[in-house]
Amino acid sequence: MNQTIEMIMKRRSTRVFSEEPISDEEKGLILDATLRAPTAGNMMLYSIIQIDSQELKDKLSESCDHQPFIAKAPWVLLYLADFQRQVDYFRHCEVQHLCEERGIPYRTPEEADLMLACCDALIAAQTTVLAAESLGIGSCYIGDVMENYEVHRDLLHLSKYVFPITLLCLGRPGRELSEKSRSPRFGKEFIVYKDSYRRLNSEDFDRMYEPLESPKGEPRQYYQGAQNIGQAMYLRKTSADFSLEMARSVKIMLKNWK
Ligand SMILES: Cc1cc2nc3c(=O)[nH]c(=O)nc-3n(C[C@H](O)[C@H](O)[C@H](O)COP(=O)(O)O)c2cc1C
Repeated sequence: MNQTIEMIMKRRSTRVFSEEPISDEEKGLILDATLRAPTAGNMMLYSIIQIDSQELKDKLSESCDHQPFIAKAPWVLLYLADFQRQVDYFRHCEVQHLCEERGIPYRTPEEADLMLACCDALIAAQTTVLAAESLGIGSCYIGDVMENYEVHRDLLHLSKYVFPITLLCLGRPGRELSEKSRSPRFGKEFIVYKDSYRRLNSEDFDRMYEPLESPKGEPRQYYQGAQNIGQAMYLRKTSADFSLEMARSVKIMLKNWK
């Protein structure tokens, strides 16, 4: 195993941060590495907002499903799927005029453009995560920034073709975590297929979730009296208030985008 793979294998989300600040030099290095992330057509369909204001951090820690550690993170970066810059550049380059001249339709941003911009933004975010990790700086994604679209749009002056796809909290880990507490993953056979998609059956699911079950002999207790992990997951995540809010928020954003 080389050092890079070892670092990837050891990485885990950091939600408790030490007081030790991240230097400007480190931030600069991480951001330079981030901008080298692969990007569709080399268009860089994303923007990053560094959230320096404590007031903004406080507000985001509330609007992103009440997660106080956001307000305590030494470095907070918001990743935007950004097609606005492309639209504005096309306007600057009089692309619509070209289309009229050539009798071809001028295509305004559609769902596919949003998807591509989301890919770019997330790949940039993960590049940040790994660059930071290599300097001993931990991170945690906040997917809940997809909630409360209208609040975030107004708070950060987001344009029509800009969508906050993820937030990263970064800082040096404030506590040592044991190897044992590392979150488990599903086996490769359930995630990586050869040549075609494979739908999993009941037997597969039993084996797939085995690492997540309590060790044999220990009493199995699931969230809110659920009978198994799937039921607990549905109650805790899929049907929870934050998920319903995310579904609402993304619907509004898509309507606005179109
Ligand atoms: C898209 C995405 C959204 C996430 N959102 C949150 C979040 O809102 N709050 C949080 O504490 N962790 C969040 N996480 C971190 C996951 O909970 C974490 O990656 C997962 O439990 C696996 O743990 P590990 O990163 O330590 O391996 C998110 C991760 C991803 C990839």
